[in-house]
Amino acid sequence: MTKKITKKISVALLLLLILALVEVVPSWARNHCQIRNPFPHQFTPLVLKKWERFQGEGLSLKQQLLNAIPYFKKELTIRKRAPIEEVQYFKDQTKILQKFSISATEQTKMTRLGFVGDLMWIRNQWDTFLDPAVRDYIQKFDVFLGNLETPISKSNPVKGKMPDYASYNAEPGLIDSFSVNGRTPFTALALANNHVLDKEELGAMETQEFLNSRGILHSGVRLDPKERTWVTFERNGMKFGFYAATWGINQIDKKDTTSLKIEYLDGIAPENEDPVQIKKIAAVMKEMESEKVDFKIVMLHWGHEYELYPTPKIVKMGHEVAKTGADLIIGSHPHVQQPAELCFFNGYEDKLKSELKDEIMNKGCILKDKSSSPSPRKSMIVYSMGNFTTALFTFYCQLGLIREIQVYPDPSLGHPDFKIGTSKLVYNDHAVFRPRSPRRLLFWDDYENPSSSQIEKVKVIKDLIGMQE
Ligand SMILES: [Fe+2]
Repeated sequence: MTKKITKKISVALLLLLILALVEVVPSWARNHCQIRNPFPHQFTPLVLKKWERFQGEGLSLKQQLLNAIPYFKKELTIRKRAPIEEVQYFKDQTKILQKFSISATEQTKMTRLGFVGDLMWIRNQWDTFLDPAVRDYIQKFDVFLGNLETPISKSNPVKGKMPDYASYNAEPGLIDSFSVNGRTPFTALALANNHVLDKEELGAMETQEFLNSRGILHSGVRLDPKERTWVTFERNGMKFGFYAATWGINQIDKKDTTSLKIEYLDGIAPENEDPVQIKKIAAVMKEMESEKVDFKIVMLHWGHEYELYPTPKIVKMGHEVAKTGADLIIGSHPHVQQPAELCFFNGYEDKLKSELKDEIMNKGCILKDKSSSPSPRKSMIVYSMGNFTTALFTFYCQLGLIREIQVYPDPSLGHPDFKIGTSKLVYNDHAVFRPRSPRRLLFWDDYENPSSSQIEKVKVIKDLIGMQE
């Protein structure tokens, strides 16, 4: 009899154990053992053609000249390929990013932050190039940021005949065209980029004088080494910090001899296997934390020209910068759009609906926080914003973007959080080899008679950055 009871109890226990295994193990496995995309740590290298391999950042003028043919082939063709793991990785990140978007019609009381990529030299028509619809749209932002990739130097001439130059200088109208009633929409601009010394130290000083006269903050290049490397501004009771740094400058012989203090990203160009030094960025994030900055923005001039995907090394670096505490990392320099992603820290995903939480846990970017923040948070990394204003002549380079995020205090987190707002494509329309032809910067949607090839290219970009119709 006792034997029978013992057997029954054993069978019952076995059934319970099987049930537990069936119920619990898959759930545990879902949370802990999913095979995540190994990118950026592992990937299948591409077999690249010579022009696809060429990366000019950090090369001497002589090396650049020796590689003029692959450089121009890359500018004309644009490198669109990336390792299969990377393509899949960004497809997954794009889907996650879209789930944090606010619809265009949604009413909100959040702080609207808009940002663009490179404001490059344009050769003429500074007073007329900007479509009023773009100017009006930009005024709605509480904060507006970009990268000024040209000196604005009154002591130097602004060249106006050739389609593009290696050495830039722009008229004040490039920036003033965006103002309404003398008020600029630009809150802060990054000056750390490879063109900052195009008109030498005087050009860089005059550029800063010009921005100061317009009330535009700037980061990345200092005249006085005692000056702080980053700037701060307040909106709606929140304190924002803005810091900019660059892979280097075109005049590499002047990199260490200039009297200006330029924020460099050491170890990034030319790109090799060595890790990038991000200690400087980590120190800036710490400074911002100690000064009670609520929202930390880092604008990095990184990556490689004319490539639609960031290299795995840049993605790894983006993750490292996010770990230091940056809320928003905005990339510039490639002159074309690149994808974006959200990275999550300290269990942020736990507060989301289970379906989205599972998606993030299975495919998303979950990182270990190196900042002093113990609370759940997320970071957004936009690898490249492309050009905003430009005289470059290929369609992908002429396609710019105004991205929006909306920042709001979240008492449950103890710091602000953000949602993704509307993105708008803009187009730099001009006949490059006819200097007097009309020049326009307008919304892509307002451009009349796009060609089928242009429509196809816009689709490529929309898919890449996850822009919904
Ligand atoms: Fe650049």
